[in-house]
Amino acid sequence: MNTINKNNSTHSQRNALEKECKTAIEVSNLQFSYTKESAPIIDIEAWQVSKGEHVFLSGPSGSGKSTLLNLLCGTLTPTQGDIALLEQPFSALSNRQRDKFRARNIGVVFQQFNLIPYLSVAQNINAAVYFAGAKTSKETADAQLRHLLDKLQLPSHVLHAKADALSIGQQQRVAIARALINDPQLLIVDEPTSALDTDARDSFMSLLKDVAAESTMIFVSHDKAMESYFDRHCSMSELSPCTNHVKASGDKTQIVQERA
Ligand SMILES: Nc1ncnc2c1ncn2[C@@H]1O[C@H](COP(=O)(O)OP(=O)(O)OP(=O)(O)O)[C@@H](O)[C@H]1O
Ligand SMILES: [Mg+2]
Repeated sequence: MNTINKNNSTHSQRNALEKECKTAIEVSNLQFSYTKESAPIIDIEAWQVSKGEHVFLSGPSGSGKSTLLNLLCGTLTPTQGDIALLEQPFSALSNRQRDKFRARNIGVVFQQFNLIPYLSVAQNINAAVYFAGAKTSKETADAQLRHLLDKLQLPSHVLHAKADALSIGQQQRVAIARALINDPQLLIVDEPTSALDTDARDSFMSLLKDVAAESTMIFVSHDKAMESYFDRHCSMSELSPCTNHVKASGDKTQIVQERA
């Protein structure tokens, strides 16, 4: 990703931070419940991810993978405990400060992609540039966008299509382009391959590993076959061993202790 030439002051400051920083994620005594009355969905004593690591996070449906990712990107706030990102306090920031930090440093690919359906692909991606407050010129931004589309094997005419007129595979790659356009240090990817067949999944993974080569990446899937693409594997049952996960069983809902 850093093959893209960035020469404004925001990026030189960021590059200085990148060199010094060794730990991308540090979680301590993290607990999260959706309501005051309910037991924690997430209960992690300690978890560290080094800068540059590509981590595969697995766990069955309902085990809290997306919840953990939402905590890491600041769209949810811990009930207890701390998250530090890039060696800076993150969960303690105000909502506004977290939004700013996320826009500048974190690329997120949501489970449902979250593209804005009535906007074009270019508008969807440029919105991420706008929210990051990047001071790049239009020419540089266009060049970065073309470079990414090329790497992700998306033809440039796709830029003018409305997001909801794309195939699922194309939407996935646009969501990745949007997550990568600001050259984020941290990439958080939630189940991007669940709708793909094996061949499409393998070529998507090779592309993702290539474009994210210089970022720290947390990649979530319940599909353990994906593990071989990653440096490190963490399961929700190891990370959050004491959590009771709610699983639907027929029309009853029962609390079960996860054993993976
Ligand atoms: N907004 C919410 N309000 C209340 N409970 C929620 C909410 N979102 C998720 N949950 C509950 O939290 C638990 C964990 O959900 P989460 O979406 O994190 O699981 P997951 O591991 O990502 O599952 P999947 O593999 O199906 O995507 C589930 O029991 C779910 O019902
Ligand atoms: Mg999920």
